Amino acid sequence: MRRRQLFLVALSSLFLFLFFLYFFILFNIHVKSTLIAKSKNAITICETPLQHKQFSLLIGILTRPDNYDRRHFLRLVYGIQSSPLAHIDVKFVFCNLTKPEQRVLIALEILRFNDIIILNCTENMNSGKTYTYFSSLPRILSRSYDYVMKADDDVFIRLAPLALSLEPLPRLDLYYGFVIPCTSMNPHVDYMSGMGFLLSWDIVEWIGNSNIPENNTNGPEDKLVGKWLKMGNKAKNRFSNKPAIYDYPGTNGRCSHELIPETVAVHRLKRWDQWSKVLEYFNVTKELKHSNLYHL
Ligand SMILES: *[C@@H]1O[C@H](CO)[C@@H](O)[C@H](O)[C@H]1NC(C)=O
Ligand SMILES: *[C@@H]1O[C@H](CO)[C@@H](O)[C@H](O)[C@H]1NC(C)=O
Ligand SMILES: *[C@@H]1O[C@H](CO)[C@@H](O)[C@H](O)[C@H]1NC(C)=O
Ligand SMILES: *[C@@H]1O[C@H](CO)[C@@H](O)[C@H](O)[C@H]1NC(C)=O
Repeated sequence: MRRRQLFLVALSSLFLFLFFLYFFILFNIHVKSTLIAKSKNAITICETPLQHKQFSLLIGILTRPDNYDRRHFLRLVYGIQSSPLAHIDVKFVFCNLTKPEQRVLIALEILRFNDIIILNCTENMNSGKTYTYFSSLPRILSRSYDYVMKADDDVFIRLAPLALSLEPLPRLDLYYGFVIPCTSMNPHVDYMSGMGFLLSWDIVEWIGNSNIPENNTNGPEDKLVGKWLKMGNKAKNRFSNKPAIYDYPGTNGRCSHELIPETVAVHRLKRWDQWSKVLEYFNVTKELKHSNLYHL
């Protein structure tokens, strides 16, 4: 009788032990597999090849401090674009603030977007803002770029086609844009329109160091850049991207033509109906998904 009791106790202990062992193993496998899954995940993320960008570009949109609405809009326009070829930063550029409220409102924008450059100058057309822009950059930026662009705030730039057009071009001594006069096809005479032109970084540094630009800062800003480069014997590499860059249809004589699929930039977008026509033409909002939350 005692033996049998002892046997039963031993047997139930064994079952209890096996029971716990079973759960211990089960738990262990579960934890281990979760960990493995997690580490696999981490590895997968790391293994995803970082997109190899071939060059970098800073687009400085010259605007004025009070143009809050325009900046808001342009952040949308550029925030949804990118290029597989180039690292592209878009920043808004203006001169010294002049009103007390600007210090607060623009500080808010900087906190949220960090995309503003305030130059040491007084806001005024054709009195050296473009010179201050290019000449300050090497000193104030924390990094260099292959290219620096100056653009107006009434231009729509398509970043992917822009990068594609730059890919085969030289990274040095380059001056790129829309050559003036409108019908000219010779980028070596004389200058690129201020709507949007681009310089390679070596020329940006030259503008900051040479006294040729320093001594010639008054006049139409785009024309002056052409004059500096001519005087300094700079920008041997030039590219006028016509017809991909142009003024909005019907706004500026022979600088205008109809919208075309291969567009890099359209200028003179002053009104909302013009912006909406352009964004629609280039299918910018086509990817919008259907939802119960809105109907357009
Ligand atoms: C701004 O420029 C003025 C000359 O125009 C100069 O005296 C001043 O030191 C500059 N300030 C800064 C912060 O660079
Ligand atoms: C712009 O503001 C800075 C800082 O307040 C000042 O040092 C500089 O003199 C101003 N520059 C001009 C051109 O007004
Ligand atoms: C620029 O102007 C200064 C004085 O205004 C003069 O000494 C210098 O020679 C000029 N430099 C050039 C390259 O014209
Ligand atoms: C926009 O999308 C339409 C329809 O898919 C297409 O036919 C057209 O070529 C696209 N436009 C551009 C500029 O890519």
